[in-house]
Amino acid sequence: MKHKPLSGRTALITGASAGIGYATAEELASMGARVVVTARRSPLLHSLVQAIEAKKGEAKACVLDASNLEQIMRVWEQSVAWAGKLDTVVVNAGRGLAGGLLSSDASQWEQIYKLNVLGAAHLMRLAAEHMVQKGGGDIVVLGSVSGMNISPFSGFYGSSKFAITAAAEALRREVAAKSVRVTVVKPGIVLSEFQDQAGYEPGLAENWQAKFGKLLEPQDIARAIGFVVSQPPHVHINDIVIRPTGQDYP
Ligand SMILES: NC(=O)c1ccc[n+]([C@@H]2O[C@H](COP(=O)([O-])OP(=O)(O)OC[C@H]3O[C@@H](n4cnc5c(N)ncnc54)[C@H](OP(=O)(O)O)[C@@H]3O)[C@@H](O)[C@H]2O)c1
Repeated sequence: MKHKPLSGRTALITGASAGIGYATAEELASMGARVVVTARRSPLLHSLVQAIEAKKGEAKACVLDASNLEQIMRVWEQSVAWAGKLDTVVVNAGRGLAGGLLSSDASQWEQIYKLNVLGAAHLMRLAAEHMVQKGGGDIVVLGSVSGMNISPFSGFYGSSKFAITAAAEALRREVAAKSVRVTVVKPGIVLSEFQDQAGYEPGLAENWQAKFGKLLEPQDIARAIGFVVSQPPHVHINDIVIRPTGQDYP
């Protein structure tokens, strides 16, 4: 059988029922990893498992609300039990929110932080403890260009991505010497369910397309994640910014 770059490796991906997470699960599985796919929508996860198995890959679905610490801990234990060990964890589940401090829906602020920051940080901590103990691994965190520049259309959401980017860099410094690579992937505009979930005004995506040209697809980010985690152990791409070619800002 042909050797694949991630043969013998295992990965857990959050937010795998759609968009970047779904594409990343397919990409890592096609590179030979056994994958645990998690999200809230069980039927979509099961379709993904079937799609991976149809290509002779191995996958397990676990329903997870990634903003809930109890569920994160339970799914973590189930995943380690199934996989034996976890080499790669992609901390991807997240959601956007239209508007800045004045114009966004403040009733959603807590949930945004519970998912994009606290849930993500708890999973990063579990993954880092596990990987330090086993002597290495990859933690890939989805940041955003809105987590490095102030977004003109989703500034409050962007603040959650600034926070998790800072937490990821703090973790990188804590575990770099233990062969654990913590990478932040910062996408520009990727067409997915994200825009509807964030509550962006209708037509915004079309306006971006007119201004920036072809926008990114989830597979464009998934390929980059596959590239990052398949580097030799002494090479760490600390962070990576991926924009549609025509996107100047954010
Ligand atoms: N799209 C962009 O332009 C863009 C740009 C920069 C960064 N990002 C970041 O990239 C990541 C993925 O975005 P995407 O574009 O793939 O978005 P998406 O298409 O909306 O997918 C989001 C995924 O997260 C899951 N999710 C949402 N809330 C969850 C919760 N409480 N618990 C568990 N899973 C949850 C969703 O699954 P369920 O609903 O089934 O739970 C879905 O699988 C996010 O962190 C986002 O902030 C996106």
